[in-house]
Amino acid sequence: MHLKLIHTNDYETISQLTGEIILSLIRSKEKVTLGLATGSTPIGTYQYLVEDRKKNGTSYQNVTTFNLDEYVGLDGNHPQSYRYFMDHHLFHHLDIPTEKIFIPNGMADDLEEECKSYEKAIREQGGIDLQLLGIGHNGHIGFNEPGTPFSSRTHVVKLTENTRQANSRFFSSIDEVPSYAITVGVQTIFESKQIVLIASGESKAPIMEKLLTAKPTEELPASILKNHPNAIIIADKEALKNVNFKQLDESIVVEYK
Ligand code: GLP
Repeated sequence: MHLKLIHTNDYETISQLTGEIILSLIRSKEKVTLGLATGSTPIGTYQYLVEDRKKNGTSYQNVTTFNLDEYVGLDGNHPQSYRYFMDHHLFHHLDIPTEKIFIPNGMADDLEEECKSYEKAIREQGGIDLQLLGIGHNGHIGFNEPGTPFSSRTHVVKLTENTRQANSRFFSSIDEVPSYAITVGVQTIFESKQIVLIASGESKAPIMEKLLTAKPTEELPASILKNHPNAIIIADKEALKNVNFKQLDESIVVEYK
């Protein structure tokens, strides 16, 4: 099993490479299902796709998307909801048919039922072709916090203080950050045919060093990538600055871009 690590100079290169991976999939396959992420890291990738659409008119008519997560209690008009984020950064600029865009509904009356039907919708699409991921400072993916079973499926999570604190920069105060979210599970992510995790900037250096040296463990949800047959990490030199490349496991194949 090999994990490919693409070491880039800067954030722009991460965005360009990730954008190209997504575009080549869309161009080569008739029907594509993407797993999408929020957070600041994918913004450049989304901009790249939007620019490409303007220049080349790439069609997204045959693309279905599933977002990883959503806050409980925020509706899609709330500027901090992930639905709003995705509309603003991506969906309003592409032509993905509305009925092919899936984001967990954080306002559902029955959240358990919402989780089940989200899993079902992914299954009915035949699974995710490419899952894009960011990484939290504690190694979370989606909102799967440390300790989440690798076998987990879409579920409601209580956010850790660490995550609420990190995400409070988007809200006017930490009290406004929801305490709960819906996230697809680690197993759901793992079943994607391909996974691309992107990481940028110095603040991610400690967790990236841990991720690249740790054995797969539920204490570090992103480490599941090490068990995946087709996973890539694309990170810039700041995010990788703590990594001792000479001591990396030989299962990690490093490429410089
Ligand atoms: C949030 C999201 C994650 C994202 C993480 C990192 O917690 N739920 O999907 O990966 O933030 O975000 P950023 O890219 O802003 O560092």
